Amino acid sequence: MKIRANEILHHVQLTSSSLKRILLIPIFLFLILIPLSFIKNSDHQSLPSPSSSSEMGKTSDLKRTSNEMMRGCDVFSGKWVPNPRGPYYNDRTCHSIIDQQNCIKSGRPDREYLKWRWTPDECELPLFNAALFMKLVRGKSMAFVGDSVARNQMESLLCLLSRVSHPEDISLKLTADTRYFRRYFYAKYNFTLTVLWAPYLVTTRDAESTVHSYNSLMNLHLDEPDKAWANEMKNFHYVIFSAGHWFFRPTMYYEKGHIVGCTSCNMNNVTDLTSYYGYKMAFRTVFRALLNLEGYKGVTILRTFSPSHFENGLWNTGGSCPRTRPFKEGEVKLEWYAQEMYLSQVVEFRAAQREARRKGLRFWLMDITEPMLMRPDGHPSKYGRSRDQNMTVNDCVHWCLPGPVDTWNEFLLYIMRVDSLRSSSSML
Ligand SMILES: *[C@@H]1O[C@H](CO)[C@@H](O)[C@H](O)[C@H]1NC(C)=O
Ligand SMILES: *[C@@H]1O[C@H](CO)[C@@H](O)[C@H](O)[C@H]1NC(C)=O
Ligand SMILES: *[C@@H]1O[C@H](CO)[C@@H](O)[C@H](O)[C@H]1NC(C)=O
Repeated sequence: MKIRANEILHHVQLTSSSLKRILLIPIFLFLILIPLSFIKNSDHQSLPSPSSSSEMGKTSDLKRTSNEMMRGCDVFSGKWVPNPRGPYYNDRTCHSIIDQQNCIKSGRPDREYLKWRWTPDECELPLFNAALFMKLVRGKSMAFVGDSVARNQMESLLCLLSRVSHPEDISLKLTADTRYFRRYFYAKYNFTLTVLWAPYLVTTRDAESTVHSYNSLMNLHLDEPDKAWANEMKNFHYVIFSAGHWFFRPTMYYEKGHIVGCTSCNMNNVTDLTSYYGYKMAFRTVFRALLNLEGYKGVTILRTFSPSHFENGLWNTGGSCPRTRPFKEGEVKLEWYAQEMYLSQVVEFRAAQREARRKGLRFWLMDITEPMLMRPDGHPSKYGRSRDQNMTVNDCVHWCLPGPVDTWNEFLLYIMRVDSLRSSSSML
C-alpha cells in the first residue's frame, strides 16, 4: 500500500544566522579536482533565450561553457537573481502539468516567484537547452528513482523538453502500477524517460499490515535495495537518486533480517537510532548495490535533500509557506534535522564516489539543498492539492511547475555535459 509524501511533511524554522557556514563544508562538486575557473563570464545576453526557438545555441557559447566545465566549477554556490524573462513554459505550452503542481491553475495569484534565476558565484549556469539535452540522450534511457519529489523533477523535465518533442506514454505497456511508475518514450530520439517509485530506496514492508496511515510503523530493510529500481539498473544510462521526507515516519530498521533499532517507534525495548541513521544506511545500500552491479555503466547522480518550508505549524496543524519571494542571504538557515539528513547523504556519496572513480564509474552530486532552501516561495502552499482526494492541502514540500524546480534540470543538463566532456577527453 502506498502513502503520500505530503502526509509526512515537516517543519522548517527560520532563524537569522548564516546559512553558508553550515552548508558549505568544502564541497568540490566534481569528480576530478581541476583548478577552479578564475574566469567570470557574466555575459547572460548571449545565451539562447528561453523564448527563442529550439536551436542549439551559438557554437561560441557552447564552446565557452565547455571550457568552463572542463576547468570545474561549483555551480551550486551562488544566488537567486531577478530574471524578468520569467519561466520556460506555462500550462498552455506544457500540457502535462498535474493539478497538484499547477499552482497558477489552482488559483495562486502572485507571479514574482517565477522570475528568478540561479546564478553561480564562479561561472555560468547555462539556460536549459532542450535540443542539446536530446542530443546527449539520443538512444539512451534515464530514470528518476525516489518519491514524489523525484517525480516533480521528472515532470519539470517533460515540460522543458516539450519545446522540442512530445513523448508517447508507454507506462501501461511496462507496468500495472501507472500511478507510481511512469515511462515515456521519445521515438524521434529513441530516448526513454522513467520514474521509479522507491521513496525509501530500500525494501519496505508495512509493519502493521491492517492499519495504514501517515504515522503507522514501516519496516525498512536497510541492507536490501528496493527491487523497484535495483532490478532495472542495467537498462539505464542516467539514474538520478533522491529521497527525503518519508524517513521522518515511524520506522523499524532491519539489517540481515534482524531488528537493529527504530525511529519514533515508541518501544522501550528497541534502540532509537534516529531518522538520519536510516537515511544514511539507505544511501549506503544504494551506492554499494550500484558499485557491485555487474554490467552497470550508468551515470549515477545523487540529488540532495530538498527542504520543505512550513511556517507557523506543521503540515497537519495549519502550517503553510505564504512567502512570495526568495530569502535573502543570511535570512534562513537549514534546520538541524535537514542539515543532518543532508550531511549524512553527502558523506555516503563522497565515500562511494571515491570507490566509483577506482572502478571507472561516474558518480555526480546535484547539490540543490542550499539553492532550494532559499526558495520558500516555490511551493504550492495553500494552492496545493491532494493526489488522492478532491481537496486542497498546504503543500510546502513539492514545487510549483513552472518554478524553481526547473533549475534542477539546468543542473542536470550541466552535469550531463561535464560528464560527457570529461568522459570523451579521458578516452583520447
Ligand atoms: C534505441 O536505444 C536502445 C537503448 O536505449 C538501443 O538498445 C536500441 O538499439 C536503439 N534503437 C535504435 C533503432 O537505435
Ligand atoms: C518489544 O516489546 C513488544 C511488546 O512489549 C514486543 O511485542 C516486541 O516483540 C518487542 N520487540 C523486540 C525487538 O524485542
Ligand atoms: C471537487 O470539489 C469541489 C468543491 O468541493 C466541487 O465543486 C468539484 O466538482 C469537485 N470535483 C470533482 C472532480 O469531484
